[in-house]
Amino acid sequence: MKMRASCSLLPQRMTVAADQVHVWHAPLDTSPSEVAGLKETFALDELSRAARFRHATDRQRFVACRGMLREILSWYTGESPGELEFCYGPHGKPLLKVADGAHPLRFNVSHSHGLAVFAIARDREVGIDIERFQTDFAWEEIAASFFSAEEVNILHSLPVQERYEAFLIAWTCKEACAKAGGRWPFPPFGTVGSFALAG
Ligand SMILES: CC(C)(COP(=O)(O)OP(=O)(O)OC[C@H]1O[C@@H](n2cnc3c(N)ncnc32)[C@H](O)[C@@H]1OP(=O)(O)O)[C@@H](O)C(=O)NCCC(=O)NCCS
Repeated sequence: MKMRASCSLLPQRMTVAADQVHVWHAPLDTSPSEVAGLKETFALDELSRAARFRHATDRQRFVACRGMLREILSWYTGESPGELEFCYGPHGKPLLKVADGAHPLRFNVSHSHGLAVFAIARDREVGIDIERFQTDFAWEEIAASFFSAEEVNILHSLPVQERYEAFLIAWTCKEACAKAGGRWPFPPFGTVGSFALAG
């Protein structure tokens, strides 16, 4: 998705109803000019965070992700991307800042290897997670450490060739739930998608 190019195709304002979650996705490896344009909307703390990345690719992806987040949120709030102000929850979750109380628009972001996903909801917390499909790490040990005994048993009851995908679905659901601020553990199997709502 080319954010700036697609902007003109979108309605001037987007609305998310209380029973909806909007999910956007975008590649983060965009052109240097696109990245420079997105960076113009940044607050000082975001500029300083961008400057701390050692590797140019990581820096550009961070700028692309945060810049696209600002742009997407602006479609919903009606403010320009640069006018939006973020604050952070006790565990670092970014939230939209408003003068009094919590902003009704809630969002969450996940990024992995050059792809970002953005979840937008209203009046309740939302969490989203993506992970790259890669089997060359000790995912069974992670399952043994973080999943309940029942969940591990379910995993082992599956045909071997299906286990990794089941692990990944469960893991992203758990992460999404944790990022929403929901309860842990989150039922992994039979849950479709990798975003979660709380509240
Ligand atoms: C901080 C944390 C959310 C980052 O998760 P991650 O998988 O490394 O990264 P993701 O790409 O999914 O998410 C990163 C984005 O989440 C958002 N985020 C940061 N802190 C957050 C928090 N405490 N809660 C929700 N979202 C958060 C930010 O938008 C961040 O983007 P940014 O780095 O560009 O600012 C993660 O380390 C964490 O604490 N997860 C929940 C802990 C947990 O109990 N997990 C259980 C799984 S077994």
